[in-house]
Formats: sequence, C-alpha cells, structure tokens
Amino acid sequence: MSSEALSILVVHGPNLNLLGTREPEVYGSVTLEEIDDQLEAAGKQLGCQVECCQSNHEGVLIDRIQEARSWANGILINPAGLTHSSVALRDALLATELPVVEVHLSNVFAREAFRHHSYVSGIAVGVISGFGPHSYRLGLDALLAHLDAQSEAVSDAQD
Ligand code: DQA
Repeated sequence: MSSEALSILVVHGPNLNLLGTREPEVYGSVTLEEIDDQLEAAGKQLGCQVECCQSNHEGVLIDRIQEARSWANGILINPAGLTHSSVALRDALLATELPVVEVHLSNVFAREAFRHHSYVSGIAVGVISGFGPHSYRLGLDALLAHLDAQSEAVSDAQD
C-alpha cells in the first residue's frame, strides 16, 4: 500500500486546545491550529489524508475513535491527561484494531511520576515524547512507515 491510499486520524486530548498559552514553558508557544495545519500539509506532501480532532470530553474522543474503524488506516494520538487515567480510551483504541502511535509534546518520563505510566503505550506501535510539536510529525512518519512495512509483509506473504 502506498501512503496515497492511507487515511490517518489525529486525536488530541483534553486541554490541548489551549496550546500556545497553556504552560508555555512546558508545551511551547505553537498553537493546536498550527500543529494541525502542519500535519495536514505534511499529509498532502506524503499523499495521505490527515483528519484532526480535539475534545476535552472523553466520550467525544471515544466516539471519534470508534468511527475511525470505518475509514482510517491508523491513529496518531496525544491522549494528554487521559494517557495516565483512561482505561476506556485504551479499550476504544484496541477495539479499532488499527495501529496506534502515541505522542507527547513534553518528555513525560522527565516529569512527575504519575506521568510515567500510560494506559495507551502498551497497545501502541510506539511512543514519541519530548520533541514539542515535532513529536507529531515524527509520529506521523513512524505510523506511515509502519503501515508501509505491514502492507509489504502482506504482499510478500501473497507471493
Ligand atoms: C502531554 C503530557 C501529559 O502528561 C499532559 O497531561 C498533557 C500533555 C504532552 O503532550 O506532553 O496534557 O500529553
């Protein structure tokens, strides 16, 4: 499968709508809109469709993730505070059977102990943490590389 055929859902968790003004010493000055614009532009360059969503409500995020079963090839997610608390979000991601890449702007492992545990990491293909807004672009590249490798493995098995 080439990236051209691929569709990616990008999910931002609670409080990420405040990026740019929220604890700028931790999360930087780039806004969520700028991050989404960059991801959508990168998607166009790479020939894949990128759809971004943010909500402060766990149930809304879970609905979007469930809907992605019908159209997405993979999920890039910054679960924000729900990373450390939400079994329901993890279950929703698992139910999609889609590859998931978890990203964080800050290096969660260099912060408070309660941020060191993630309910999502154990079901993710991988985790990128600590590169500011660049974490998302690294995550998108990693997810697309994973999908390419997966589809090559399938076509090799068919030969
Ligand atoms: C975050 C890290 C989380 O611990 C925190 O609750 C967030 C943002 C990050 O991107 O660094 O809201 O996911």
